[in-house]
Amino acid sequence: MKKQILLIVSGGIAAYKSLELVRILRRHNIAVRAVMTKSATEFITPLSLGVMTEDQVYGDMFDLKDEREIGHIQLSRQADLIVICPATANLMAKMNAGIADDLATTILLATNKPVLAVPAMNVRMWNHAATQRNINQLRKDGIMVMTPDSGAMACGEFGPGRLIEPPEITREICAQIGVTFDTSLCHGQSPTTQSNGQDISENNQSPAGENILAGKHILITAGPTHEAIDPVRYIANRSSGKQGFAIADTAAKMGAKVSLIAGPVSLATPAGVTRIDVQSAMDMQSAVDDALPADCAIMVAAVADWRAAHNAEQKIKKDGDALAPLQLIANPDILAALAKHEKRPKLLVGFAAETENILDHARAKLSRKGCDWIIANDVSTSNGQGVMGGDHNDVHIITANGEENIKHATKESVAQTIMERIANVL
Ligand SMILES: Cc1cc2nc3c(=O)[nH]c(=O)nc-3n(C[C@H](O)[C@H](O)[C@H](O)COP(=O)(O)O)c2cc1C
Repeated sequence: MKKQILLIVSGGIAAYKSLELVRILRRHNIAVRAVMTKSATEFITPLSLGVMTEDQVYGDMFDLKDEREIGHIQLSRQADLIVICPATANLMAKMNAGIADDLATTILLATNKPVLAVPAMNVRMWNHAATQRNINQLRKDGIMVMTPDSGAMACGEFGPGRLIEPPEITREICAQIGVTFDTSLCHGQSPTTQSNGQDISENNQSPAGENILAGKHILITAGPTHEAIDPVRYIANRSSGKQGFAIADTAAKMGAKVSLIAGPVSLATPAGVTRIDVQSAMDMQSAVDDALPADCAIMVAAVADWRAAHNAEQKIKKDGDALAPLQLIANPDILAALAKHEKRPKLLVGFAAETENILDHARAKLSRKGCDWIIANDVSTSNGQGVMGGDHNDVHIITANGEENIKHATKESVAQTIMERIANVL
């Protein structure tokens, strides 16, 4: 028999994500009936939720027509699981106290069904002793309370309190009600159709984030640098440029004007991106200066720390078996210089490729370089070949206010998350 969820949407900024949750649940052939708190209707309309569930949305406990046709007790009895998404601090406090002063809280007090709460709130609300006390007690009472994600929040703060993404919520719901979770059902267009055959869920909407960065100039460096020793030899590193190019591509898709300063790599230029090719760290520094001003700079390039003190005009000849001494001097620190530049971008993001003590080194780099965020990645795997040159990355976004880990994801997906966080700030 088809499984059914009773979805309670309460009044948080993440309420809009309940629409996507419904879409993914229905793709898993799970029926969804929805109840909204009064506050939730300030964030999304019952109409949009009703379009997604293809059902009436319930909200008013004293609507006689509803009570005759389907009462508050019956609403939960027909469900296999009650899901509260998003669950506000307020709603969880009321649940803990046994308050039943609206349809949602009355259902929650009257139900005999399992309840899964998916909280989302500002980091301070989440960390507040009252919220933590309520959650501990709810868990003791048998309510399943998911732990929110950490990261940049709509309010501009950073930390735990972000709604878990709808595919992950769906995974948990499926586990609870014995439905097979299928990742491929979590992406792409909705299968939901109207009687006229039109898609009703995301009709005519542009892809998420499109044009969100219109009017912003984003400066990105990518790839390695080559530091010449003589006309045929150079010092290099393993950077492939893939992560920086993926970020440039995503930024352009979000509508930004993108200047991509690329070290020597053989990657295609993403559509809509202005590419400036350079060889050495010195070239990269002057290209960065020329590209300013910018609203945000993302310094992904693995710039060589040193270069040969003398770049020989002619190929250095082998002198018997004796090694030719190679004297190195420091290259300019492009990131630190940009932090002190009179045209410093509003948001300055550095990358730190580390092979040990990743977070400690990255935190130190954040304060030493004077940038706003450091994105640290572990390049230790197989001499760096796992990340450097590969298609996946595992990064930590480190800011003055907190840290967020993006675990083993494609470089495109890492780019998407980073650009969403940046768009929030810009
Ligand atoms: C713009 C705005 C965003 C809010 N976002 C959240 C939120 O994400 N989480 C939360 O717990 N409360 C949030 N609140 C506060 C709740 O809306 C408020 O506590 C309300 O009483 C919740 O009612 P409900 O629990 O009955 O839905 C927000 C309030 C406003 C004005």
